[in-house]
Amino acid sequence: MQIIVLPTGRSAALATAQFVARLLRAQPASVLGLPTGRTMIPVYQTLVALHRRGRADFAKATTFNLDEFVGASPRDEGSYRAFMRRYLFEAVNVSRHRTHFPGEQGSPSTYDDMISTAGGLDLCLVGIGTNGHLGFNEPAAKLTTRTHRVRLMPATRRANAYLFDGRLRDVPRLAHSMGIATILNARTVVLLAIGASKASIVRRAIGGPVSTRVPASLIQTHPNALVVLDRAAAGELARHSAKRDRGTRR
Ligand code: GLP
Repeated sequence: MQIIVLPTGRSAALATAQFVARLLRAQPASVLGLPTGRTMIPVYQTLVALHRRGRADFAKATTFNLDEFVGASPRDEGSYRAFMRRYLFEAVNVSRHRTHFPGEQGSPSTYDDMISTAGGLDLCLVGIGTNGHLGFNEPAAKLTTRTHRVRLMPATRRANAYLFDGRLRDVPRLAHSMGIATILNARTVVLLAIGASKASIVRRAIGGPVSTRVPASLIQTHPNALVVLDRAAAGELARHSAKRDRGTRR
């Protein structure tokens, strides 16, 4: 696992977007696992800017989002498809037919089959919930490996209320999520965390033991994982596990 700590959220988002754009240039038909969340907004805005400058071409790319609310129609403004449309899809040249969300097709396991048929994920970009969830894989004694339906924890519903104009009662209780193995089977996993509100969970996920109680800690087991942090999110990591301020790659 490599950890990069950059001085600001902006520089961390920029580095993450450049990582994705570089992959698209090297491998235009890349299969990308994509997350939602406020952390990703500057990443997607940067990718849009890179696309406009001819530095990120999505024409041949295929995307599989990590998660989606159960019962959310694509036209629903709170849905993750609407989020992706708003921040990325409508501003780049990705084909609508090559963008996928769990739950849009029959049984959840179909999603894993579709990912396999597409050749597997080249890159899975992930954020981290303040309770350590990855996608919507909530902390538990046992994690589900493949794409599945999940009951959201109260803290997760609260964290997603911003998509529903702050109305907690409108946030769905159920969601579909890629499983932990679906995510970790990606050839590369990039985790981005920004801000002091993530410092404690970053310490537990990156600096603590691997545990299903902190699903994001399983990224430590991935052979090709990159963790991108800003200084605030890295604030509770021990000095020996992350060199601050200098963007040092370890
Ligand atoms: C949601 C998503 C996660 C994401 C998390 C973090 O719960 N399902 O995939 O990692 O939000 O969100 P934020 O970036 O807003 O902190």
